Amino acid sequence: MATSWFSVLLLVSIVFSCFLAASAGDFYQEFDLTWGDKRAEILNSGRLLTLSLDKASGSGFRSKREYVFGRIDMQIKLVSGNSAGTVTAFYLSSEGPNHDEIDFEFLGNLSGDPYIVHTNVYSQGKGDREQQFYLWFDPTKNFHTYSIIWSPQGITFMVDNIPIRVFNNEESIGVPFPKNQPMKVYSSLWDADEWATRGGLVKTDWSKAPFKAYYRNFNAYSWNSVGTDVWRTRALDATGRRWLRWAQKYHMVYNYCADLKRFPHGRPLECRRSRFL
Ligand SMILES: *[C@@H]1O[C@H](CO)[C@@H](O)[C@H](O)[C@H]1NC(C)=O
Repeated sequence: MATSWFSVLLLVSIVFSCFLAASAGDFYQEFDLTWGDKRAEILNSGRLLTLSLDKASGSGFRSKREYVFGRIDMQIKLVSGNSAGTVTAFYLSSEGPNHDEIDFEFLGNLSGDPYIVHTNVYSQGKGDREQQFYLWFDPTKNFHTYSIIWSPQGITFMVDNIPIRVFNNEESIGVPFPKNQPMKVYSSLWDADEWATRGGLVKTDWSKAPFKAYYRNFNAYSWNSVGTDVWRTRALDATGRRWLRWAQKYHMVYNYCADLKRFPHGRPLECRRSRFL
């Protein structure tokens, strides 16, 4: 990746660490294991977390802290081998009716066939804003960093610091934007073979269970009023926008904004704006 983009990220990280409450590392301190009994486990003195799925249950965890704007990074190594039918979700969500949510979901596949990275944004209970991507690497071989950057100006989804999607704040044209409801970080691994792989054609092979996903190096920078200035600068510079176009052009497999059949009465308002920033 070009140096300028890295230096922007570096600068942003330095600014973040000066102004924002950062929390890092220890899974014991940051998360509660919320689902699946012993299937969710924290290992290596809090530095590694694993989720597993078998026929009886999946598993999941949730952050102890809440965030209103911030940057969330997690390194994940996804279920390897035949992971068809499984879904690993990593997301931010508020609670209660009309909730806000920012989603990464990783849809498994047969050995050697590509995972799909599914993204969505809910504001005030309404989602239906899916974009899906293939990855440019095998996400089951190594850990990769998946990030959500949530600011008053917009939401950026990044994979290994490459922006794949930006959802801008378009409140000025009447599109609700998540901003008032604090969110926690969640992750879970579950069975979704009715829809996950090739639209539900490929079912989970339970002879391969338990299925396992691995997590490490969680980092969260939470916005507070002191840091307001950070967000005035645009999240992406020219290099970042070029990477975004690259991801959208070569790796996107589904974009709700391009799905005209689904919106016979006109596309959602935010889709009528320019495609990127
Ligand atoms: C699984 O592999 C098939 C065949 O390559 C592909 O069409 C599909 O998009 C892949 N991903 C999922 C999650 O179905």
